[in-house]
Amino acid sequence: MSNNNTSASTGFSHEKVETNNFLMIVLILLVIAIGGIVEIVPLFFQKSTTEAVKGVEPYNALQLAGRDIYIREGCYNCHSQMIRPFRAETLRYGHYSVAGEFVYDHPFQWGSKRTGPDLHRVGGKYSDEWHRIHLNNPRDVVPESNMPAYPWLEKNQVDASAMAPHMKALRTVGVPYTDEQIAAAAADVKGKTEQDALIAYLQIMGRALK
Ligand code: HEC
Repeated sequence: MSNNNTSASTGFSHEKVETNNFLMIVLILLVIAIGGIVEIVPLFFQKSTTEAVKGVEPYNALQLAGRDIYIREGCYNCHSQMIRPFRAETLRYGHYSVAGEFVYDHPFQWGSKRTGPDLHRVGGKYSDEWHRIHLNNPRDVVPESNMPAYPWLEKNQVDASAMAPHMKALRTVGVPYTDEQIAAAAADVKGKTEQDALIAYLQIMGRALK
């Protein structure tokens, strides 16, 4: 009998769509589904929605060890790593932070607490020697500083055996470390102090973006 109906009308009439609730709902869902598929499906074939900024490299073993110390010592409690796109910020700290600079940060250290200055572009701002004095006792270079001293970093050795497993773990979340880099990790940090590692990390921060 539906055969009779359709043959009577001339194909798909607009009136039929507008007067039939059920048909209207089905067609709306269909249109939304197509729109959704067109937006979502390309993402399945994209490795990451945020591409690394040109020049951003995964942290080498020493920098990575330094980053671990940064997290262990709670530097993020007083320092953010996120320069916001406001004139007052870019004048003070340099170019605002962009997403592609953080692709290899697991976990990221953006933060919002600024007892001390933002550190995202501190790399290259001071010499290694300045950082050594500053980490041993901030008051020696900035008399009014209330940053704590971290004198033990100079005495502790980096735990070399921890680096390869750490890099392997990061590889599982997408950091493209090669087998050679992982194999060389322990040798790369051998004999380095925690202070060496932390400074290596501080000196690379925010420098990839030209
Ligand atoms: C209690 C808060 C506090 C903590 C924790 C802290 N800092 Fe600071 N930091 C400051 C303050 C305040 C300043 C500004 C005065 C100075 O330069 O010492 C500062 C300055 C700095 C500077 C110089 C930044 C610039 O642009 O001049 C660096 C680098 C730095 N801190 C690194 C670290 C690191 C690394 C750690 C962890 C090991 C750390 N800070 C932990 C408060 C803190």
